[in-house]
Amino acid sequence: MQVTLLVNGEERRLSAEPLTPLLDVLRDTLHLTGAKPVCREGFCGACMVLLDGAPAVACLTPVALADGRSVETVEGLGTAETPSPVQRALEEHEAVQCGMCFPGMVVTLTHLTRPGNCAPTRDAVKAGLVGNLCRCTGYERIVDAALAVMEDGR
Ligand code: FES
Ligand code: FES
Repeated sequence: MQVTLLVNGEERRLSAEPLTPLLDVLRDTLHLTGAKPVCREGFCGACMVLLDGAPAVACLTPVALADGRSVETVEGLGTAETPSPVQRALEEHEAVQCGMCFPGMVVTLTHLTRPGNCAPTRDAVKAGLVGNLCRCTGYERIVDAALAVMEDGR
């Protein structure tokens, strides 16, 4: 099928089998490799993207489901030179270790810190991160970073 995706604000047209995981289209066709294939079963959140602004695991999202919709990947959220508020806060709180989970973490935290998506409390942020697994950092600094973004209104 022909698919049109609005990826990080740019319209991308491509041809794909309808059930191809969005993750594979992003990585193999569009060469956006920020979303990571880790579990490929929807458990770890390393492949998280925002689909029309809501977090979605790209490994379990058929590309047909994303047709005509907005897809935000970690590449669209900030760069090393111009980090997003979430990326800057994570760095300031020294929340990153191996980094494997972080593309997905940044995507989910971006959603949570946008106005109206999450109460600025530890419990609410922890609940919002339930779909993102980190095996090395521990979550406290990640939550601290998210709360700092919310409190600053950055
Ligand atoms: S790779 Fe998609 S949830 Fe783990
Ligand atoms: S920093 Fe290593 S898995 Fe999260």
